[in-house]
Amino acid sequence: MAREFTRVGVVGLGTMGAGIVEVFARNGVDVVAVEVSEPALARGRATLARSTDRAVAKGKLAETDRDALHSRVDFQVGLEALRAVDLVVEAVPEHLDLKRRLFAELDRICRPDTILATNTSSLSVTDIAVATDRPQQVVGLHFFNPAPVMKLVEVVRTVVTAADVVDDVEALCARLGKVDVTISDRAGFIANALLFGYLNQAVGMVEARYATREDIDLAMKLGCGLPMGPLALLDLIGLDTAYEILNTMYRHGGRDRRHAPTPLIRQMVTAGLLGRKSGRGFYTYDKPGSAKVVPDGQTPAPTRTVPDSAPVTTVGVVGAGALAAGLVEVFARAGYPVLSVDGDTGSSAGISDAVRTALDEDVARGALDAADHEATLARITWSATLEQLADVDLVVEAVAEESSVKQALFARLDEVCKPGVLLATTTSSLPVIEVAMATQRPADVLGLHFPDPAARRPLVEVVRTIRTSAEATATATAVCAALGRTTVVCGDRAGFVVDALLLPYLNDAVRMLEAGYASVDDIDHAMKLGCGYPTGPFEVLDAIGLDVALAGQRAVYREQREPGLAPAPLLEHLVTAGYLGHRSGRGFRDHSGR
Ligand SMILES: NC(=O)c1ccc[n+]([C@@H]2O[C@H](COP(=O)([O-])OP(=O)(O)OC[C@H]3O[C@@H](n4cnc5c(N)ncnc54)[C@H](O)[C@@H]3O)[C@@H](O)[C@H]2O)c1
Repeated sequence: MAREFTRVGVVGLGTMGAGIVEVFARNGVDVVAVEVSEPALARGRATLARSTDRAVAKGKLAETDRDALHSRVDFQVGLEALRAVDLVVEAVPEHLDLKRRLFAELDRICRPDTILATNTSSLSVTDIAVATDRPQQVVGLHFFNPAPVMKLVEVVRTVVTAADVVDDVEALCARLGKVDVTISDRAGFIANALLFGYLNQAVGMVEARYATREDIDLAMKLGCGLPMGPLALLDLIGLDTAYEILNTMYRHGGRDRRHAPTPLIRQMVTAGLLGRKSGRGFYTYDKPGSAKVVPDGQTPAPTRTVPDSAPVTTVGVVGAGALAAGLVEVFARAGYPVLSVDGDTGSSAGISDAVRTALDEDVARGALDAADHEATLARITWSATLEQLADVDLVVEAVAEESSVKQALFARLDEVCKPGVLLATTTSSLPVIEVAMATQRPADVLGLHFPDPAARRPLVEVVRTIRTSAEATATATAVCAALGRTTVVCGDRAGFVVDALLLPYLNDAVRMLEAGYASVDDIDHAMKLGCGYPTGPFEVLDAIGLDVALAGQRAVYREQREPGLAPAPLLEHLVTAGYLGHRSGRGFRDHSGR
């Protein structure tokens, strides 16, 4: 007969435990909430009160329901209070010895039929289970942060967990309104195994001063639609917890150097900069436990000053593909006269049709009125020649993604364009400096990377090479602001900010699938429901194109030579087989019927 979980225990009321208590109590389950000391208990109680008060203020919880929720929670110091519970969820710090000691104690104290669950993010559930005499009743129950909000729970079954225990825990997850994925015991399970390499790499960018904390977070929010940037997320997780997770993943997840904690994390932990919980991490918060960021010494001025920017009145766009069409549309809509040069294809029909279609769609959606539609088209000169670019102030190149093609074009632009013109390449995977050095004016050359689709994404990465002048960077930033875009400024490394962080994560997802650890649906689910991502990694891959992702990943790998960044063989094979995603009707999923 299935177990009834009417009274559960939660041990450790920190970042996760307090949220887990809330999840149970909100769903009618009585909770014994246990901490190690009175002050820690008071902190846990305050966290729960803050969270439920917030829910009441937002109209998501009635006052009477809040009071009923609190009446179901029995706050206690010490494990002895857990004698009569049906299930215990442990959420103490991520240290194996501590958890093993705790489980041995729980085994001694709790009834023989009690299920013991750990909320560990990365430690081996098996290692924890064998510290008890009931390993068949031990599971991983991995909630996500914040536990009351995130829908996913990873249920981790070890080789000794009894099948009926897994069934009953899965049923409990459903009763709590959660979606579970059940997986075996592997460091980082699904979501953290895909998340933490990315988070660690973002810290590496801060440490190397590659881009600012604000720009890295903005890039991932605006470039990928993520709910928060990696550094803000690390502050939410807690730097101490993140350090332990990375350490375990490095040691037990294949010694991938991408999981070796970036030294900056350890320094921050040692200095007590743990994130939101201590009031300071990558950002500064108005008080410990608060989500409100306050300005500090690293906060940039509210408006970026661009004192040296040169005026830009006319723009040339070279290229005939989808990106070129998007750029012609974006510049013309922002009021710039645009010369559209078809570049290497010699045909303007495609690009003018694409721009007209996009503008028609904008009118149909009510995003553009008929007069603006006409005015926008009137600003565009179709089929301009390269020679006609002699007088423009900015040229944006969007021709084929091949260094020789781009270099030849920039050599021609160098001959044709007047001095001081800003020359921009939209390359997403080639070194910008290679293109710049095809001209005699590398100081005026930079990268403008518009994440796909260019006409819709609000972000532009401004890529400066080691030869780009401050004036060119300022001009590019000012032009992007006139387009209504947010810019992030970064150096000339493969993938810039967004792709450098996104592509390895996508590649890791393919490796996980290839290893048979989880299915396409489970992995997509885990990232959407556990991390709040708008789309799962396989949805992203099918949308951007497997060939595009592979080319980008190859560029990142070529530059960094990090073994863990080598393209997944499965990705290579799918591309070879012509499974490119939506574009070819099949990628990781079959799209032929849609
Ligand atoms: N932070 C996250 O985003 C996150 C997400 C999912 C899972 N987890 C996992 O949840 C667990 C807890 O992480 P956290 O971030 O909540 O840590 P935390 O440091 O915020 O909280 C840990 C709590 O455990 C208490 N504690 C320590 N020893 C105890 C004991 N012997 N008995 C009772 N309480 C004790 C501490 O006083 C503290 O309040 C870890 O295993 C972590 O990997 C964390």
